[in-house]
Amino acid sequence: MSQAGPPIDAALPFVILLVDDEKNIRRAMRLILEAQGHRVHEAPSAEDAARTLAEIAEPVDLVLLDLMLPGKSGLEWLTELRCDELHRELPVIVISGHASSEESAQAMKLGAADFFEKPLNRERILVSVTGALHTASLRRELVYLRRQVDSRREMLGSSPVMRRLYHEVERVAPTKANVLITGPSGTGKELVSRAIHSLSPRHTMPFVKVNCGAIPRELIESELFGHERGAFTGAESKKRGLFELAHGATLFLDEIGDMEHAAQAKLLRVLQSGELSRLGSERTLQVDVRVLAATNRDLERDVADGRFREDLFFRLNVFPIRVPTLEERADDVPLLAETFLRAFCQENGLGAKRMLPEVVTALAKRRWPGNVRELKNIVERAAILSGPEITMADLPEDPHVDPFSDDTPSTPALLPSTGRMTLREVRDRAERDHIVAVLENQEWNVSRAAAELGVERTNLHKKIRAYGIKRG
Ligand SMILES: Nc1ncnc2c1ncn2[C@@H]1O[C@H](COP(=O)(O)OP(=O)(O)OP(=O)(O)O)[C@@H](O)[C@H]1O
Ligand SMILES: [Mg+2]
Repeated sequence: MSQAGPPIDAALPFVILLVDDEKNIRRAMRLILEAQGHRVHEAPSAEDAARTLAEIAEPVDLVLLDLMLPGKSGLEWLTELRCDELHRELPVIVISGHASSEESAQAMKLGAADFFEKPLNRERILVSVTGALHTASLRRELVYLRRQVDSRREMLGSSPVMRRLYHEVERVAPTKANVLITGPSGTGKELVSRAIHSLSPRHTMPFVKVNCGAIPRELIESELFGHERGAFTGAESKKRGLFELAHGATLFLDEIGDMEHAAQAKLLRVLQSGELSRLGSERTLQVDVRVLAATNRDLERDVADGRFREDLFFRLNVFPIRVPTLEERADDVPLLAETFLRAFCQENGLGAKRMLPEVVTALAKRRWPGNVRELKNIVERAAILSGPEITMADLPEDPHVDPFSDDTPSTPALLPSTGRMTLREVRDRAERDHIVAVLENQEWNVSRAAAELGVERTNLHKKIRAYGIKRG
């Protein structure tokens, strides 16, 4: 993202997960680590540790793992971690109650960052933890920078409202919080959701997108939650739903405001319990899915009108992000327009084209009900129509401008004899005639004519071209 703030990581303390069944050991280690400014979570077993990893909102930087645990052993869990896409690279320091060179060799083979024995020695712990965290932080920075460059390629803008947006995205991305992204059509809601995913610890997992408005009502539940064979007419084979496919990953529910009530109720249950059952099945499945939702509707109004479930709204709206309209960030228009132009010309082998400064100014002043998408379309259309330079003639007329709010003086005295003319034609004709008269009067000096007309020189040039006015 352009102009994003400093790396999120710089300000955050390290997060360490302590896995040991002995409470006293956990307490002693917690004191040592917290004194260093780290944040500590505890788990008395491998099973609890797995749950903690999946449930806490912050990414864990380091695990201290006792090998002798009730239930699943430390080595078994470490093996599982190494097979799990999300935690394959999580640094783990292994602790053992009694020396066994075989165990220690195996732990090292599984990529343990270090191995040491009880009784614990404070200095030894600190040296080992500091070393592992140093490596972890280098890796974290590298991954972060790589991803920032990726998303930077997509989200443009350095206006204050965009900076605030980047800040929010960077803060919420590493957590597991559900995010509700709102904003009018074409503002970049999908782009924001992709940026959140790519800056999250789930970035190596899929970003699964569902357009809730585009799926027929009767199919949405089976799309999201899957079905067993024969669950309904037409269900010829069993199908996994998108929630299952997004396990361990991110699910983007686009146009959530269009979801109908029955599906809303089921979605709420999944978000509350993390459990779902396929249509036609009694069996429940545990899923770990981070949900991002977007809408251009006013969901609060929909809640008030009974169109959207209030409880679901609160579940989704844990962290609301409002994407600004293009008019709120008109300063970004030149950068966006020029970037879109360059990219489009490059992709389509059109050769480099440039926009005349007056075109850029006109774009920045325009009204944009279709926001960034509309700007992109207009720039691409102009690139197709224009020669090497994009001029005012390559822009479509701004349909959103109020013809009477213009700053050109109206000149009823010069109105031509009417006949059947629309108001707009009358106005244009009068405007054209008056401009010609003033130009004549000023001996075709455009600057002086513009001054007399009370408009910018570029604006007058634009009108001269648009009306096809020529000297003589
Ligand atoms: N900040 C931005 N920088 C660069 N391109 C952007 C930005 N915001 C939006 N776009 C581009 O504008 C277009 C619309 O963006 P996107 O699809 O994310 O909007 P949306 O809010 O989801 O729209 P809708 O409500 O219609 O679904 C896309 O081509 C996207 O790449
Ligand atoms: Mg969208």
